[in-house]
Amino acid sequence: MSNQTVYYSAPRRLLHWIVAVLLIAGLVAVESHEIFPKENPLRGGLVSLHFQVGLLVFLLVWPRLALALSGSKPPVNPPLVPWQATLSTLTHVLLYAAMVVMPVLGLLAVQMNGNPVTLLGWELPAFTGVDKDLSRTIRGIHETIGNVVIGLLVLHIAAAVWHHRFLKDDTMVRMLPPKK
Ligand code: HEM
Ligand code: HEM
Repeated sequence: MSNQTVYYSAPRRLLHWIVAVLLIAGLVAVESHEIFPKENPLRGGLVSLHFQVGLLVFLLVWPRLALALSGSKPPVNPPLVPWQATLSTLTHVLLYAAMVVMPVLGLLAVQMNGNPVTLLGWELPAFTGVDKDLSRTIRGIHETIGNVVIGLLVLHIAAAVWHHRFLKDDTMVRMLPPKK
């Protein structure tokens, strides 16, 4: 089976795993910041880390989208049954949409609350005026979709492990460095 595996291209694999690390780190950071009391600088640091990695994901999603839309998806061997192929495509589309929409909502929520957002030390221009009520609403939407994203990722990662360990197809291997 493995000698017939068609791998994702190196740029697609690299970007997938860089974004996976960033996005999961950002989620762990925002979900754990409340462990620390308000006066502990780690609390604010974790929220800032969430902003930074979210903005980096926003930068990296564009080359990923360009690569995904310009190339075809390598076939899985043995082929997926139709419902699995449909569900996986739907999950990937939703994850891509989240990588575009979530950073925008997050940025707007923070700036509308009157707070600056920096990326790698550079303060971003204000894309919006201050509107605290709207900021609260957008933040609520961001948090709700954020929890859906966590659910999608649990499904995504569980599916990857299930295909690898139990169905023993090459879904996961295609996303790893090719065996020489
Ligand atoms: C792909 C990118 C992103 C994802 C998946 C994401 C996801 C999440 C999640 C799951 C939460 C916690 C929800 C909860 O507590 O119920 C959250 C909170 C938050 N996010 Fe994001 N986020 C992203 C990017 C950003 C960016 C770029 C910013 C701002 C520049 C931002 C600003 C916020 C804020 C202000 C909160 C509330 C934090 C608090 O509770 O104090 N997010 N986000
Ligand atoms: C430990 C974590 C992860 C594992 C094991 C994993 C595994 C995989 C595997 C095996 C594939 C190929 C699936 C296929 O071709 O049908 C894939 C594709 C994909 N994964 Fe993940 N993934 C992880 C984290 C993430 C995260 C955090 C995201 C965030 C958005 C993500 C987004 C995607 C997308 C959009 C694809 C479609 C292929 C592409 O265009 O790059 N993955 N993943």
